[in-house]
Amino acid sequence: MLSYQHEYHAGNFADVHKHLCLRVLFEALCRKDKPFCYIDCHAGAGRYDLGGPEARKTAEYTGGIGPLWECRTQPASGTVAAYLDAVARLNPDGELRYYPGSPALAQQWLRPQDRALLLELHPQAQQRLKQNVGEDSRISVHTRDCYEGLTALVPPPIRRGLVLLDPSYEVKQEYRQIAALAVCAHKRWANAIYAIWYPLLPAARQRALLAALEQSGMPRILLTELTVADGTDQSGMYGSGMAIVNAPWQIDNTLAALLPAVANRLAPGRGATELRWLVEASAGQATG
Ligand SMILES: C[S@@+](CC[C@H](N)C(=O)[O-])C[C@H]1O[C@@H](n2cnc3c(N)ncnc32)[C@H](O)[C@@H]1O
Repeated sequence: MLSYQHEYHAGNFADVHKHLCLRVLFEALCRKDKPFCYIDCHAGAGRYDLGGPEARKTAEYTGGIGPLWECRTQPASGTVAAYLDAVARLNPDGELRYYPGSPALAQQWLRPQDRALLLELHPQAQQRLKQNVGEDSRISVHTRDCYEGLTALVPPPIRRGLVLLDPSYEVKQEYRQIAALAVCAHKRWANAIYAIWYPLLPAARQRALLAALEQSGMPRILLTELTVADGTDQSGMYGSGMAIVNAPWQIDNTLAALLPAVANRLAPGRGATELRWLVEASAGQATG
């Protein structure tokens, strides 16, 4: 049985990095009027109470959305402003209490013509997700294991799109399994963007994921990493990474302009970012 609960980690530095990447990808997709389909394979509960016992116990958000929220009146860029606006909509009185998960962010950023499929396996998270999403004809919530569900759902009728793979990596095999899932889905829906989140831990298990992606034959794979410590103290997650398959044109420049200031805000003097192509963009390749 799954034991991971995102309530303990919501709004931490990894969520900030992941959700800013998500915003950048939505901005890229929204450049054309043509509809797109967003598939969230590990949706979680969709909204988190930062005043609840789980979030208060770890206080991880105080190293993530906390410091960024404090500078919301002078956001570093339009992308950061849009992300903070989405957080602000859940906190209309200006006090940071609720944090939106990826489904709640997507719900705010989808246009009328776009669609979203949300997959969540944990029964409690699933129940909360349904409550938090409410009635929205653009969005369908699936009680489904993504290892079976994603390949069954792709390609969706709308052929442009984005898949977010955001597992908890509770078991170390998941690094290889998630790469295999992306490859399998890519065979059926080759022009979608796949955003695969991974943690940076002292054990460096992300190497198995990245090696599998590099050898997969999938094109244009960009890696973005944000670190808040140097990883030598052996005390847990020190960074957040996202591998973006079929990375949209110029997204590397967008992320390079955006993330260093965010890293410095989250971890002054220690925060750093890295951006590199795992699989090079070759001339003429572009995602629409
Ligand atoms: C890291 S959390 C997701 C956070 C969410 N993507 C966000 O950004 O707000 C991972 C979620 O995946 C769910 N999960 C784990 N394994 C799954 C699977 N095989 N299929 C679908 N959901 C799964 C967990 O219950 C958990 O809610």
